[in-house]
Amino acid sequence: MRTAILASGRGSNLQALIEACKTGNLPITIVGVGSDQLGVEALKRAEEAGIPTRVFQVGDYPHRQAQEDDLLIWMRENKVELLLLAGYMRVLGSQFIRQANFPVMNIHPSLLPAFPGLHAQRQALDYGVKVSGCTVHIVDEGLDSGPIVLQEAVPVLSGDTEESLAQRILEVEHRLYPEAVRLMVLGKVKPTGRRVQILQQEGLG
Ligand code: GRF
Repeated sequence: MRTAILASGRGSNLQALIEACKTGNLPITIVGVGSDQLGVEALKRAEEAGIPTRVFQVGDYPHRQAQEDDLLIWMRENKVELLLLAGYMRVLGSQFIRQANFPVMNIHPSLLPAFPGLHAQRQALDYGVKVSGCTVHIVDEGLDSGPIVLQEAVPVLSGDTEESLAQRILEVEHRLYPEAVRLMVLGKVKPTGRRVQILQQEGLG
């Protein structure tokens, strides 16, 4: 499946997806990595893996819609069948989502619907929850609000800082995102409204 990835920063989830492709665990072809930021680590990781990259800096466009229109043109040119957000720090607008004729997935570092938006790990610590985690979801027109594909819980420990909790969640993200994408491309993800059924492999019930 021809897949584009959008990332704004470090790109560790991008790296996990690249690695899963290399080991044959993830049947996608990453046809391009786009970013709204110049010179970020995610772009370097893509270049090292030989994946074409493109920068779509919002400041280069008259308005946000023009940036998203350009993203869509790039994806159409590349015949994209799946878009993965991997730390893309902008919310895609309704028009983009409506016009995208491919599924869009995202990973978020909390158990949604708790703590959407920025600094999810800090929000979890500030709230005092004992368990947080991460969520892979289908992107809809809201903020971290689309149907949930997979979630995994991660304990919050008493001595946790934002960094230590983020790191513990990140280790799970790197496993959960490739797994959710794998299920999606194998046709095992069946959304009905908000509820997403995961079809099990034969024999596993
Ligand atoms: C991850 O925590 C992801 O869940 C969130 O943004 C962060 C991106 O990290 N959406 P990285 O760039 O993949 O390292």
